[in-house]
Amino acid sequence: MAIKHFLQFSDFTLDEFEYLIERTRIIKRKFKNYEPHHTLLDRTLVMVFEKNSTRTRLSFEAGMHQLGGAAIYLNTRDSQLGRGEPVEDAAQVISRMCDIIMIRTFGQDIIDRFAKHSRVPVINGLTNEHHPCQVLADVFTYIEHRGSIAGKTVAWVGDANNMLYSWLQAAQVFGFHVNVSTPKRYEIDPALVSQDNVNYTVFANPSDACAGADLVTTDVWTSMGYEEENAARLKAFAGWIVDGEKMKRAHPDALFMHCLPAHRGEEVAAEVIDGPQSVVWDEAENRLHVQKALLEYLLRGRLD
Ligand code: CP
Ligand code: NVA
Repeated sequence: MAIKHFLQFSDFTLDEFEYLIERTRIIKRKFKNYEPHHTLLDRTLVMVFEKNSTRTRLSFEAGMHQLGGAAIYLNTRDSQLGRGEPVEDAAQVISRMCDIIMIRTFGQDIIDRFAKHSRVPVINGLTNEHHPCQVLADVFTYIEHRGSIAGKTVAWVGDANNMLYSWLQAAQVFGFHVNVSTPKRYEIDPALVSQDNVNYTVFANPSDACAGADLVTTDVWTSMGYEEENAARLKAFAGWIVDGEKMKRAHPDALFMHCLPAHRGEEVAAEVIDGPQSVVWDEAENRLHVQKALLEYLLRGRLD
């Protein structure tokens, strides 16, 4: 049987996501009620980090523990990956010693090569091009607060980064629309978007992208791995802050999301991220719950 990986959002069908969302509700409820949920007893997750993390590490590590298993953290600094061991060799070895692997790395090609040589499922914990676990948590959070996301409008204010590409894939799967506004020179790379994706519209003005939106979302102006561009980005992104004025253009019931970490006064104003429309803490917590459903599904399939 072919191994199932979660390397990009488009790897799963709507039917699979609907199962994961229902399963997440059950898992979250049990967690809140102090009911054990040990569906991955004695299983081991290995987490490989080539970039920094707070939420991803914590949610996968705590999640695996709550499922009755264990998680092992490896990073580039003190594993042989940082000394040039080929990705293909690392995949062979790591996947013989554990049941499932999560990787946070640079190019998507690295995780694709790793998955090809792995004997066990591989999860994308963020690459330069995609952040599917975060968008899964965000879609779950939207549904939790507002019901179905189908037919809704999400405004993206920021550069074309990993979060946006995962949002664009999610829009196609769930049937919602993304209004995208990126500064000049930080636009969508058409090679990273499916040619038949008609679920987005590009706006030159970030405020226009927010008009009538059901959800407004943004991200850091400088993603990990692009630090040397920071000064140029600060200049180019002036005007792309999500502030109270932009939120006023959105639907009165609109939510605000940010995958975090955030920079108040840069991509988002404090009045928005700390205001009543913001659901950023639920979004962060839901990483834990959706990823438990994901780990369980990749290892054991449907359990209902
Ligand atoms: N949102 C997110 O992935 O956070 P970390 O970088 O802290 O893992
Ligand atoms: N786009 C950001 C997301 C951080 C969770 C980055 O890649 O750094």
